[in-house]
Amino acid sequence: MSKVLAEHLSYFHLPRRYDAYARTIASVLSGGEALADLGCGFGVLGIQCVRHNARHVWGIDHSDAIEIARETVDRSGLADQYTCIKNSTFQAILPEKADLGEVRLDENVEKALSFSATLTTDRDCMLHGLAGWFDCELADDVWMTNSPIVPESIRRPQAFFPLQRPIEVKQGDSFDIAFRIRHGQGIFAWTVTPADGAPIQRMNTWKSRILTDKDLETRPESPLRMNSRGTARLKTLELIDNKRTAHEIEALVLETYPELFATPEEISRFLRAELGAGTES
Ligand SMILES: C[S@@+](CC[C@H](N)C(=O)[O-])C[C@H]1O[C@@H](n2cnc3c(N)ncnc32)[C@H](O)[C@@H]1O
Repeated sequence: MSKVLAEHLSYFHLPRRYDAYARTIASVLSGGEALADLGCGFGVLGIQCVRHNARHVWGIDHSDAIEIARETVDRSGLADQYTCIKNSTFQAILPEKADLGEVRLDENVEKALSFSATLTTDRDCMLHGLAGWFDCELADDVWMTNSPIVPESIRRPQAFFPLQRPIEVKQGDSFDIAFRIRHGQGIFAWTVTPADGAPIQRMNTWKSRILTDKDLETRPESPLRMNSRGTARLKTLELIDNKRTAHEIEALVLETYPELFATPEEISRFLRAELGAGTES
């Protein structure tokens, strides 16, 4: 079984997760919306929205899971109301404005997320690191958490941020922590400042990376396959012959390889960036 398939099938086994989303969708949608299902996976949530009378759902996912979504949508006879787009959510262009609801994040969220807190230990122990999880109100009275310490958890794994050197702590000890996260680049930095004057510990993922299964898939000994961006780059560069203009190349790529990305606008956007970066006139 492919890793993508296995990952998405595993979501079906998480307790309470789909139930919380189903209750959220039922309470939030009033019907007639155009929605973007960002990171739609198999399209389960978007399909649920269609069943709650959303007018149209644009399901976007950059992984092969979108193929399962497409087949599911087709088999359910919902292809008129659910469009599957294989792309990054940062790149996809929709033919209409979609309702994303209200997203309230810090102003600096695109560059960095940062926060700090003072924690107090509730027992004598060795402190090896900090654990992280989410606790999220999806709609009025609908909560979802992957906390390891409450029974209503959806039981997804938590994050662990280790210390360089474990610290011995006593019940009631306080210490300050601070986090800074550059999500786009996958860089995490965290500091722990013990209250007793022990040295501050500064950790980050700048010099080392958090590896996922996906990273390990591209081991040097494995054959490399061209993805759609690589294919688009190759075809574009082949057309640069010191005679054609950028407009001509763009028109040729659009005409010859219309399937490279989901929409002609995305192909044009990619080409303009590509031609601008690697050429001169
Ligand atoms: C946790 S899964 C959720 C799938 C689905 N929404 C569900 O609840 O069953 C996250 C999905 O988002 C996709 N994804 C993550 N970042 C993305 C991005 N920037 N652009 C497109 N898809 C993305 C992943 O491929 C994955 O399928």
